[in-house]
Amino acid sequence: MPVRMALSDVLPLTWTNADSPAVGGVELVDIAALHGTPVYVVDEGHIRQRMAAFREAFGTDARLAFAAKSFFCVAMAEVLAAAGWWVDVVSAGEMATAIRGGIPAGRILFHGNFKTDGELATAAANGVGRVIIDDPTDVVRLAAHAAEPMAALLRLNVDVGADTHPHIRTSGADVHFGMSADAGDASIEAARAGPVNIVGVHVHIGSQIADPASHRAAAEAAIEFVEERSEVFGDSYELDVGGGMSAPYLRADPVTPVADYAAAVFEAIGDRPVRLIVEPGRSIVANAGVSLYRVGVRKDSDPPFLAVDGGISDNPRPALYGARYEAIALTRPGEVAGRTFRLVGRHCETGDRITTAYLPDATGPGDLIAVPATGAYGFSMSSRYNMLPRRPVVFVADGVARVAVAGESLSDVVR
Ligand code: LLP
Repeated sequence: MPVRMALSDVLPLTWTNADSPAVGGVELVDIAALHGTPVYVVDEGHIRQRMAAFREAFGTDARLAFAAKSFFCVAMAEVLAAAGWWVDVVSAGEMATAIRGGIPAGRILFHGNFKTDGELATAAANGVGRVIIDDPTDVVRLAAHAAEPMAALLRLNVDVGADTHPHIRTSGADVHFGMSADAGDASIEAARAGPVNIVGVHVHIGSQIADPASHRAAAEAAIEFVEERSEVFGDSYELDVGGGMSAPYLRADPVTPVADYAAAVFEAIGDRPVRLIVEPGRSIVANAGVSLYRVGVRKDSDPPFLAVDGGISDNPRPALYGARYEAIALTRPGEVAGRTFRLVGRHCETGDRITTAYLPDATGPGDLIAVPATGAYGFSMSSRYNMLPRRPVVFVADGVARVAVAGESLSDVVR
């Protein structure tokens, strides 16, 4: 059952508010003083706890594969490697980062609706664990590079309605990911010559999906495809149900416990001896991240604008999906958040609006603002728009802050 959340549930799990707000035992004002703003703060303890929740819900037999696209760097790969997780990658860059962080190539799932020949060659040379076939031509192109047998899953486009923003829905006729049943059959046919060995199926219907019934429907559709082709798959096959579990962004957002997604998937599977794979991204990292900004300009329109030193370049989600966030004035402890402000970025875009939030009346230039729930698809989708340098990522845990990704300098930008 979705549960109503409070602000505290949007924040990282180790957030405390004794003297001034701290994450992982490190005060946020100190991180801003040391690393400047904007800066991405990531709560390592939160990530570990969310990973443990997935393990608990899906069980030790499931293969848990983190979706690198949601947030990735070597430090993140190290956390996954230590916990024995797999990783879902879609590029040679994500693949190399996973390997650098100590994830064995055999625990990499290689996705993508267009994998270049160079990437397929690299995947084959590294011996990645699974290649996800998105089109019959993937089989032929992968076979051309594979000296050894390579295990693969068929990504099916199962048309189950998923209630989410159209830009993050990945099933149905209008979507360019995955295959129809006919294309799936053509892929099976192409694989007969070897060395690509199809061992199961994959479905991913979209992201930020609050109703687990969609995951159940997708799993059921995938199982139906497989059971109509039992001579190919046998009884025991791999079923990858993708990611898409939701995370709360606003205090009013309903949230679905991980156990509910697991229950829905297990309901679809029943007592079949299926080997389950799950690929969460957002639901692991979204609430682990807090972005810190400094206010530079206040314009007293109605409601007033507060311009901060980042925006669309460090978080394009408001502009792309109409995403909204909470905001907290760190430098005004004890003052009542009684006034609505429009928090805007510093880019040359009318759509560069981070959120609308209640903040203390006097909030203005010099104040430090924390925007929580920015751990997923912020840093990973960042850009250098207006030639701003990319911002550092700071991991915090047990009272220690360490730079996980160095910020860029002006010379990096010019280069
Ligand atoms: N597996 C596959 C094949 C995917 O395409 C994705 C996300 C995931 C797993 C992980 O989904 P998650 O658990 O994170 O929802 N940039 C958008 C989200 C795009 C999602 C792309 N695929 C956003 O900021 O909302």
